[in-house]
Amino acid sequence: MARNVYGLDLGTYEIKIFDKKKDSIWREKNVIAMKDKRYIFSVGDEAYEMYEKAPDNIQVVFPMKNGVIAHFDDMQYLLGTLLKTDRHFVRGSEYVIAVPTDVTEVEKKAFYDLVFHSEARAKSVRIVERGLADAIGFGIDIMNEKGVFIANFGGGTTELSVLSSGGMVMNRLVKTGGEHFDSAIAGLVRHNRDFLIGRLTAERLRREFGVFDQSTDSRLTVAGRDLITGVPSQTDVPISLVRAAMKEPLEDCVHAIRSMLDRTPPDVRRGIEANGICLTGGIGNLKGLSTYLEESIGLPVLTVPSPELCVVRGLQKIIQNKTYYRRLTYSMLDEDYRWLR
Ligand SMILES: Nc1ncnc2c1ncn2[C@@H]1O[C@H](COP(=O)(O)OP(=O)(O)OP(=O)(O)O)[C@@H](O)[C@H]1O
Ligand SMILES: [Mg+2]
Repeated sequence: MARNVYGLDLGTYEIKIFDKKKDSIWREKNVIAMKDKRYIFSVGDEAYEMYEKAPDNIQVVFPMKNGVIAHFDDMQYLLGTLLKTDRHFVRGSEYVIAVPTDVTEVEKKAFYDLVFHSEARAKSVRIVERGLADAIGFGIDIMNEKGVFIANFGGGTTELSVLSSGGMVMNRLVKTGGEHFDSAIAGLVRHNRDFLIGRLTAERLRREFGVFDQSTDSRLTVAGRDLITGVPSQTDVPISLVRAAMKEPLEDCVHAIRSMLDRTPPDVRRGIEANGICLTGGIGNLKGLSTYLEESIGLPVLTVPSPELCVVRGLQKIIQNKTYYRRLTYSMLDEDYRWLR
């Protein structure tokens, strides 16, 4: 028997961890701050707050990019530190990791190696397709449902999954997420106003405005650097500018959803048409996004509170339910792993 079981959803923006013993979920930003490129200064939410504010000798690194691990050592250190700060962290535990489907085997194996070869001394590491965990966390009885469409709008990616009878029919990882919206916003403000704002400020604009609420016409004052005078100052950004900046990346996502629906087998598609599209991931918090998607896709869009936690809530259910656990998780060391794919 493992001493504890952890469920891990390693997101580009935030790491979410389910702890079986405590029966609780905790989350921390996927960021690490290093001093002089050698010493760890801070990790998680604390490091995120330092982004764009830190002095030159402190580098703030995001170890994941577009849903996959970009800096393996940093990621391993970050995860190890987070688990250690949890008082109940025990060696010899079991880990269930949610991994994206539409990535290469090498990228998938990196998630596995991250935990298996870390100082956590894992007793065993099992993986589960992220789209399946997402659907379970959304509250869907995936074993019996014949057509499920999950659109997870995350911090670095948008993952689209079509499921039927407990299995993945199709999956696509679109490399457009929150950070791309934010850089589009910062880019347009720069272009339009000759004013430089940072990523965190762009994120604030996106979060605080009801971007899709067409009835409002508000403005928000933000701090940044005036590119003409070169001095730090403030400017008013109207909601229309933020809306315009988000249009293109959002259309990419809508286009991907449409083309996925077009390729869906007819029987499964009938199920999806009856059930609607399930919206998950942190961007799903944006007010009015579901209405926008409904109008542009022509299908009902369903939402839940705290959509960013769907995957980890799904992991929680998988860890607590023996049938799910047996059917949906697997080890990459299994002899027949290759044949499962
Ligand atoms: N309440 C909110 N309102 C608006 N946006 C939000 C809210 N909460 C989170 N977000 C945005 O959601 C994104 C993070 O979503 P999520 O936690 O699902 O991503 P992730 O799982 O870390 O990334 P990925 O799945 O792409 O690897 C961020 O861009 C963040 O700004
Ligand atoms: Mg995610």
